[in-house]
Amino acid sequence: MNVTIKTPEEQELMRTAGRLTADVLDMIGEHVQPGVTTDELDRICHDYIVDEQQAVPAPLNYRGFPKSICTSVNHVVCHGIPGDKRLRNGDMVNIDITVIKDGFHGDSSRIFHVGKPSVRGQRLANVAFEAMWLGIRQVRPGTQLGDIGHVIQNYVERNNFSVVREYCGHGIGRQFHEDPQVLHYGRPGTGFRLEPGMAFTIEPMVNAGRRHVRLLKDGWTVVTRDHSLSAQWEHTILVTDDGHEVLTLGAANRP
Ligand code: MF3
Ligand code: CO
Ligand code: CO
Repeated sequence: MNVTIKTPEEQELMRTAGRLTADVLDMIGEHVQPGVTTDELDRICHDYIVDEQQAVPAPLNYRGFPKSICTSVNHVVCHGIPGDKRLRNGDMVNIDITVIKDGFHGDSSRIFHVGKPSVRGQRLANVAFEAMWLGIRQVRPGTQLGDIGHVIQNYVERNNFSVVREYCGHGIGRQFHEDPQVLHYGRPGTGFRLEPGMAFTIEPMVNAGRRHVRLLKDGWTVVTRDHSLSAQWEHTILVTDDGHEVLTLGAANRP
């Protein structure tokens, strides 16, 4: 395993990449309305990242991914490819943004409800959100990755939902996906130990039904096997000397 420790200068570049990532999510919110296509959302984000931020949308051509953002609607777990389908009232969509600025990546995703949320969709999104934050609150030097996975899994399963196992959080920096893998399930007191200067994502995928997933023939789109709803949120986090810094907070939540 090769876990990079970011220097203070690199941490500053990570802060910038993280802020730009959050700015895209802040910007796109008002466009998520009944009738919009996920292709249209992709185009708006692409142009904003390239033209306004002078940054690079990391997903575009990443291992052959064809678009600049991921849009995962309802029973799509992650890596949904934007297309010409129109969003409808009551849908929920995860928009996953990864921006490269000055060589460093920021990676964050949020759930957006289209029009009026369904009761079950709202509850699932809230549980996934709280699960992510429970994981984030564990982050400090000395924490082991199993501690993070455990609190996430425990909270999700207490709420009778399930955690996807096949996809996980990841170290991040000059590379989109670096070591270590950050599982969203596990046992306390196990796994890799965190040190100041490490940066990684926490991005639990939570299913309303069973945890199992299936990859569609497009090679990207991951769906729940039982077609139950799925929800995900993601932040990029830096380990500091005395805790952590969330690098992808939206403008409304910045200190
Ligand atoms: N942003 C996703 C993550 O959180 C990865 C997307 S890979 C892509 O790790 F190629 F689909 F963009
Ligand atoms: Co990620
Ligand atoms: Co992401």
